[in-house]
Amino acid sequence: MSGRFDLLVRGGACVLPSGTAVTDVGVRDGRVAAIGRLDGATADADIDAAGLHVLPGVIDSQVHMREPGLEHKEDFATGTTAAVLGGVTAVMEMPNTRPNTTTAAALADKARRAKGRARCDMAFFVGASGDNLEQLGDLERLPSCAGVKVFMGSSTGNLLVEDDVTLAQVLANGNRRVAVHCEDEPRLRARFALVEGGAPVAMHAEWRDAETARLATERLLRLARGVGRRVHVLHVTTAEEMGLLPEFRDLATVEVTPQHLTLAAPEAYETLGTRAQMNPPIRDARHRDALWRAVDEGLVDVIGSDHAPHTLAEKAESYPNSPSGMPGVQTLLPVMLNHVNAGRLSLRRLVDLTSAGPARVYGVAGKGRIARGYDADFSLVDLKAERTLSDRWSASRCGWTPFDGMRITGWPVATVVRGRVVMRDGEVLGDPAGAAIRFQDTLR
Ligand code: DOR
Repeated sequence: MSGRFDLLVRGGACVLPSGTAVTDVGVRDGRVAAIGRLDGATADADIDAAGLHVLPGVIDSQVHMREPGLEHKEDFATGTTAAVLGGVTAVMEMPNTRPNTTTAAALADKARRAKGRARCDMAFFVGASGDNLEQLGDLERLPSCAGVKVFMGSSTGNLLVEDDVTLAQVLANGNRRVAVHCEDEPRLRARFALVEGGAPVAMHAEWRDAETARLATERLLRLARGVGRRVHVLHVTTAEEMGLLPEFRDLATVEVTPQHLTLAAPEAYETLGTRAQMNPPIRDARHRDALWRAVDEGLVDVIGSDHAPHTLAEKAESYPNSPSGMPGVQTLLPVMLNHVNAGRLSLRRLVDLTSAGPARVYGVAGKGRIARGYDADFSLVDLKAERTLSDRWSASRCGWTPFDGMRITGWPVATVVRGRVVMRDGEVLGDPAGAAIRFQDTLR
């Protein structure tokens, strides 16, 4: 096949829907225009991908970019720079900013701020609160909206839907899949005395214990069944929740994070201190094993990072005044490639969790696979490259990673967003040109 393309990715091992094949990919107008031997073809730009794997662009469907209001931790420019350095081509951003993203005006403001500053494609969640219940069905259909996000337990910020009556109303208003942080607020309040006034950070997993997560997930699934609403259970952390979820596969999809698959208590708290503090917490190896089993059994749909940057000065406060959350958008792919290299999961399964999975769960239009007509979003990786993750490599404004010092085999070496090479060999390229992610439910 010959012809002229804007970009040619030559000779990479492409992870295609039909399997992995060494082939060329031709891109025109931001989309995949041809897959196959393109020997006679010419292009404005060329990537020699021999020896590399070409993955569909990684979609990180849970990131906190902190803009507006908390830009001392992160903003759209720094957060999406971290994303593309880590091989991520699209992110879905969470609503616990200042102000919270609970209105059409706040959503439009985020979209406007991202324009010309985001290096990857973006969409934004609207937060459910007692004040916007009745508008949720309209809000979730606005341009660049990824859907509705619910916090059942309080975390960073003040977004909260803690009781069943309000949660049922949230689920009854609208149609798109609702993303939910499942921790039971009444139990969190009842147990706060365990850590109030100061405690070792390892107590975080005692205060916000496995039952706190299980209770909330059980309540959510029961209410979702009642109204027939699709839900996405974010960052599942316990064996017990994984036990509940198989009965709800018609309604509920499941996310796990790289950090819950990689770190475990008590070691994580001993070595990382408050850097390991997040909600829901890093738990012990029994739970971590259960998460891997759920990955193996196909119960997990998505790996999202829950990128939640806080400054080291904030993290240096004494527990429990230290904020919960750790950065992750830049390390998601390297950490998971390292697991691939260790034989923990196949590259094909990883791609299902980081590209096809998020696209399927949220109904992303034209992303998530390398296929003709789809957006030309690629994460090119060198499965043999050995590197060490470090705070220094972090492009997030927070400037650290919980994986500092971790030896990694498998590394993102180029990132392509709709046919534009935005990262090559650790260098960010071109002007920021991220666009709004499009969704099947709200195409016009
Ligand atoms: O640890 C967390 N940090 N969990 C969340 O749910 C929110 C996040 C944040 O925004 O800092």
